[in-house]
Amino acid sequence: MPVTVVVGCQFGDEGKGKIVDYLARGADWVARYGGGANAGHTVQIGRETFVLHLLPSGILTPRPKCVIGHGVVADPVYLLEEMDLLVGRGVPVAGRLFISEGAHALLPYHPMIETLDGEDVRVGTTKRGIGPAYQDKVRRAGIRFYELLDPKRLRVRLEEHAARLETLYRGVGKTPPAPIDQLFAGWISTYSQVADRLRPLVVDTVELLNSALRRGEKILGEGAQGTFLDIDLGTYPYVTSSNTTAGGAATGLGLPPSSLRKVIGVCKAYATRVGEGPFPTELSAGAADALREKGSEFGATTGRPRRVGWCDLVQLRYAARVNGVTSLIITKLDILSGMPQLEIATAYDTPGGRTTAHPVDTEVLARSKPVYESAPGWLEPVSGVRRYGELPAAARSYLDRFEAAAECPISMVSVGSARSAIMTVPPRGRR
Ligand code: GDP
Ligand code: IMO
Ligand code: MG
Repeated sequence: MPVTVVVGCQFGDEGKGKIVDYLARGADWVARYGGGANAGHTVQIGRETFVLHLLPSGILTPRPKCVIGHGVVADPVYLLEEMDLLVGRGVPVAGRLFISEGAHALLPYHPMIETLDGEDVRVGTTKRGIGPAYQDKVRRAGIRFYELLDPKRLRVRLEEHAARLETLYRGVGKTPPAPIDQLFAGWISTYSQVADRLRPLVVDTVELLNSALRRGEKILGEGAQGTFLDIDLGTYPYVTSSNTTAGGAATGLGLPPSSLRKVIGVCKAYATRVGEGPFPTELSAGAADALREKGSEFGATTGRPRRVGWCDLVQLRYAARVNGVTSLIITKLDILSGMPQLEIATAYDTPGGRTTAHPVDTEVLARSKPVYESAPGWLEPVSGVRRYGELPAAARSYLDRFEAAAECPISMVSVGSARSAIMTVPPRGRR
């Protein structure tokens, strides 16, 4: 059974949580492959709303087992809190959640380091310590979960990190919030308790998932963030610190790239971004307000107002190519009802001329002006529509533009945050 990966085609917050929750009922495994608690995946079930930051969205469906892969940087304390919160709300977690031994622990000094050098402000990060945790991983100094569970090894490794933290504070002439030896003693006591609780969940998830793959079980890879926040393929340096694109599922879970045969690209019917960095189709402050309010575009992790803009087919074309998207799911189509005219970016005017290719140089991107084509909007609400053929003609031709840019079919359209607010899209010849 090939692996299916769900990726965001924009700057994150495309509605991946809702889509993974929807697809989870047909999966045996749902596995998060990257990022950390910077993600905020919202799932609405009946009257209840769940915002998951670290746990895979599949946890809310009884059938699948869930995995946090080694590509994730996981805060062990936060992980337990999120588990406890779900258990308190009646979600069965015991026996269904596995954490990779190789996942890197995000520890209390990571958010401290992030604010020390101003990375948080420069990039507009979530301040969750994600960048410094991945920096530790890449400089080969990270603490992985197998070390977290071994008190002797953990003490030695935390000693190294405490010494470095002291040096870093001294280097910028600042004083830490408490003496470092006091912080260190606190870490030792916290993490020995945390380790005891986590021990039963921490396993070799590479072996677990590859064995499942060989048994023909269905694995769904859950991406966090979006294509344009990918450390290699996004709008560097205004990105997160991991590979958010489909390739990250192979490296972040240890699944062979050849097994990733279905890639579902989730794309909002318009665009949003949280944090700094270029956003070619961004609406001006006044014009953005109505769409932001209507779409409730406020960060699920930080509560920050999201920047909003028109749909950008230059980005969608790129996202479809670099992820190898095999089908698209368009979300939040309902939010565009009532707008008489929509703008669609089909190319950029860059200092070097007109292009339909996403510029690699972020300065060039920042200076690019989108070339818009206008499309008729539709006034009627679509949140109650469950059959593709019953969508207004203008909405269907708007969606056609997404398919043409991505060069792949739209398989589903979401028209509300509820589980049921979604419709399948028949193949082209049968619409
Ligand atoms: P994620 O990070 O990609 O999982 O997305 P978020 O959960 O951060 O943000 C998406 C928001 O849109 C959430 O509040 C969802 O409940 C909501 N949502 C998802 N799909 C739809 C949809 O089709 N229509 C509407 N109105 N809301 C949606
Ligand atoms: P989900 O999974 C939207 C953004 C931050 C910042 C940049 C780097 O919900 O789609 P970081 O804290 O990761 O170092 O911040 O990335 N960012 C997100 N934006 N959705 C997310 O996740 C994000 N995770 C990080 O706003 O611009
Ligand atoms: Mg989100």
